[in-house]
Amino acid sequence: MMVSGIRPGVIPQAVPAALRTAVLLWEVMVMVVLVAYATGHGSTRGIAVRIADRLRQRSVDARACAVADVLEVSSYEAVVLGSAIHGGKWLPEARQFAVRNAAPLRERPVWLFSVSTLGDEESMFPPRVANRLRGLRKETPEMTQMCRLLHPREHRNFAGAITRSHWPAIGRAFFRVTGGRYGDHRNWPAIDAWADLIASQLDVKSGL
Ligand SMILES: Cc1cc2nc3c(=O)[nH]c(=O)nc-3n(C[C@H](O)[C@H](O)[C@H](O)COP(=O)(O)O)c2cc1C
Repeated sequence: MMVSGIRPGVIPQAVPAALRTAVLLWEVMVMVVLVAYATGHGSTRGIAVRIADRLRQRSVDARACAVADVLEVSSYEAVVLGSAIHGGKWLPEARQFAVRNAAPLRERPVWLFSVSTLGDEESMFPPRVANRLRGLRKETPEMTQMCRLLHPREHRNFAGAITRSHWPAIGRAFFRVTGGRYGDHRNWPAIDAWADLIASQLDVKSGL
């Protein structure tokens, strides 16, 4: 990785040895992680920004960026890719991003997350309904394909946020029947814990 345009092999000889060592250490220490996301109404963006913030607190340089704004992934050591679920699927721009960048993504550690009504731990439903829905939930064909394509280390589900006006009629009807609750259901401790896990799996030593 480059640090301010300096490569270890081309640090000028005039640079003091201590500074050369510091630059080399910096090279080893700093990982740049891309947290790419696709969002419809903003709750997935909030989760991506939180993951990037948390990684930075763990000495991992991380940037949250909408998939549409990512030019290339080759300059990142690792990628966390997440999308809102609308109509049972990732948003099209997230799928297209994954397909377009499949080759470089396969060459680096990748983590995936989906944001919907039903997280792995929290949900927009009463606990009994949520447990039943989790029991019925299978990995979608899309996610199976994504895993085949990208070889992610893990795929996590997080609950997001919903307002009545965002839901299509079918969603409102489903909420009525199942006792779903509108509002922000993002589980920040679980999101932070996942970011901590990612940081611990990256080859980063913190504490300098
Ligand atoms: C148009 C629309 C379709 C949705 N479809 C689903 C769905 O199929 N399954 C689900 O669990 N949640 C669904 N949701 C809920 C969203 O996944 C949830 O609100 C999520 O937090 C949205 O993320 P965003 O704010 O980044 O768009 C839908 C929401 C909207 C607005």
